[in-house]
Amino acid sequence: MERGALRRSPHFFGFVMYPTSSSMRRLAAALVLSCGAAVPGLAQTVTERLPLCLSCHGESGQSQNPGVPSLGGQQAFYVTVQLLMFRERMRIADPMNDMAKGLSDDDLRAFAEAIAKLPPPPPADDPPDAARMERARALVDQNRCNFCHTPSLAGQDNVPGIAGQREDYLVKTLRGYKDNSRHGYDDSMAEVMATVTDAQIPDLAYYIARVK
Ligand code: HEC
Ligand code: HEC
Repeated sequence: MERGALRRSPHFFGFVMYPTSSSMRRLAAALVLSCGAAVPGLAQTVTERLPLCLSCHGESGQSQNPGVPSLGGQQAFYVTVQLLMFRERMRIADPMNDMAKGLSDDDLRAFAEAIAKLPPPPPADDPPDAARMERARALVDQNRCNFCHTPSLAGQDNVPGIAGQREDYLVKTLRGYKDNSRHGYDDSMAEVMATVTDAQIPDLAYYIARVK
């Protein structure tokens, strides 16, 4: 085929399209690369958004707000799983389902890592009622709370730290596991709370918020 015919043939456009489509492939590859390389940008997103989170959860991770849990020192893996559950609406709670909407898996992990680095909440500082503390400590042993949550109740991996958590939040969330309004990632807490009575929940929360 002579050149003129090639230029006029539809095949010519097919031919010139090749470089175009391969440059589009290069562009797509560059976009993928720039997303993959966007770790500093991602860290910045989380750094930019963390103050909003901490406006509710407490500036250094110690919540001063009723119903809002302290996050400081929380196990990173637990936090990642819970944020995922909020995003996927497996754990339903205002305002967290909206907060987690649209976050990428990398965002969830980055938030969790930043949160885990904040200092854990200190025990409530009012003088504890010794008899009530003793009664609740027996419940903690009996129900093996200190087995899964570790002896210091600092948690590990997917098991959250609970020591020093806000008492009101502890009551609310333990009731949630018991009446099945809070679904755990696994059944551990639903099973535990099946044998804990409603009347024991305030004592457990009292103890966990004050344990040293
Ligand atoms: C307007 C207040 C508010 C803001 C802002 C907020 N949260 Fe929350 N968050 C809450 C409340 C309330 C809960 C408890 C929900 C429940 O009752 O189970 C919660 C729960 C959580 C939990 C579960 C803690 C646990 O111990 O199970 C995590 C993790 C969390 N928030 C992370 C974040 C992150 C990350 C951000 C920012 C992207 C954020 N929150 C922004 C109010 C807030
Ligand atoms: C078999 C292991 C196991 C035992 C025993 C156990 N827990 Fe848990 N606990 C877990 C796991 C796992 C989670 C996270 C579940 C989820 O995804 O919501 C959890 C979550 C919690 C939470 C939620 C913390 C937060 O920040 O929202 C509280 C409070 C809690 N446990 C208290 C207790 C108490 C009190 C006991 C004893 C009466 C107890 N746990 C016994 C494994 C256990």
